[in-house]
Amino acid sequence: MAFINDNYLELQDSYLFSTIAKKVNEFVAEHPEKKLIRMGIGDVTRPLAPAVLAAMHTAVDEMGQKETFKGYGPEQGYDFLHQAVQSYYEQMGVSLETDEIFISDGAKSDVGNITDIFGNENIIMVPDPVYPVYVDTNIMSGREIIYLDSNANNDFLPLPPTDLEVIPDIIYLCSPNNPTGSVYNREQLTAWVKYALDHNSIILYDAAYECFIHDASLPRSIFEIEGAKECAIEFCSLSKTAGFTGTRCGYTVVPKSLKALNSDGDEIVLNKLWLRRQTTKFNGVPYIIQRGAAAVFTAEGQSQIKENIKYYMENARIIAAAMKAKGIEYYGGDNSPYIWLKCPNNMKSWDFFDYLLNEIAVVGTPGAGFGNNGEGFFRLTAFGDRNATIEAMERFKSLNF
Ligand code: MLT
Repeated sequence: MAFINDNYLELQDSYLFSTIAKKVNEFVAEHPEKKLIRMGIGDVTRPLAPAVLAAMHTAVDEMGQKETFKGYGPEQGYDFLHQAVQSYYEQMGVSLETDEIFISDGAKSDVGNITDIFGNENIIMVPDPVYPVYVDTNIMSGREIIYLDSNANNDFLPLPPTDLEVIPDIIYLCSPNNPTGSVYNREQLTAWVKYALDHNSIILYDAAYECFIHDASLPRSIFEIEGAKECAIEFCSLSKTAGFTGTRCGYTVVPKSLKALNSDGDEIVLNKLWLRRQTTKFNGVPYIIQRGAAAVFTAEGQSQIKENIKYYMENARIIAAAMKAKGIEYYGGDNSPYIWLKCPNNMKSWDFFDYLLNEIAVVGTPGAGFGNNGEGFFRLTAFGDRNATIEAMERFKSLNF
């Protein structure tokens, strides 16, 4: 009989959002009369931008013509999309070579798969609370994980630790943060880059929510910070930026100057390893989708997606206003689509989840699902429909606490 990867038995029974979906489905089956409002998983509700649709329609037609039909594409993405992403970075003052950009089916896959190119002896550091994929994928490979407290004392923006006995080899950072909605400023991110360079650590930087940053003083890419190309990989996604949660496209930047050691102590270029991994295990994103993705970066696409982002940020303002009206402590919602609130009356996260579901049929995400420091907190997303968001907040304000 074959053997399993025992590390899987160390995981919690199910992925956070699957557990929530199960609870919600049970509630809906028991209470078909209740009008449920979903503010749990960060799934978008605005349709794809017209420029994206037009580009995909054209690409569909190309696939139907012998002269323009495409079979297997380059696993790391077509050059037209590399160039589009490259110009996007140029607007942030970041210059990249096209072969430093890898097109993927989203940040979740790449954040999880990147663990393939690192040895299992690496010590991993993750802030707590954190997007569960960072922790789960490292548990799957049996790596040692150390947690960095992210809490109200540091405004949910932990800085490099000064008191650790072990040095983390790999550090996960997410800004704007999922779940807390907090955003590192330039000085804080510079401190992280300095720490990584001083300790030869690698930062895995999840920038999936960068497009929600409207404060021009805040960095949207870690590569805006000097030295980051020697210590960081950045993951980004069109899921939230352009409504691609169902369409699937993202990109990962692995600078060619980034190196790590092999077991003989030689420095190895990670860009090459990632290319090797992707060309072996990934078939690439479909041509039609990549054409749609490239349209996101055109002037027309950018102006259309900015309308959607504005729409979601207005939802965030509505949610934040309801929190203020109820005197609830909250974080985020300003340069981020997530509102991270302290559960009233010291309720525990999952109790508050049940309470909101049963009392007002509103679904959120329990903070405890993101780590120990998330206990007593709760996440609401701004990705809903406007009227549903307004109604949810009216129901919320009617609660007695
Ligand atoms: C979330 O709700 O945290 C995200 O939608 C999950 C994801 O992007 O995979």
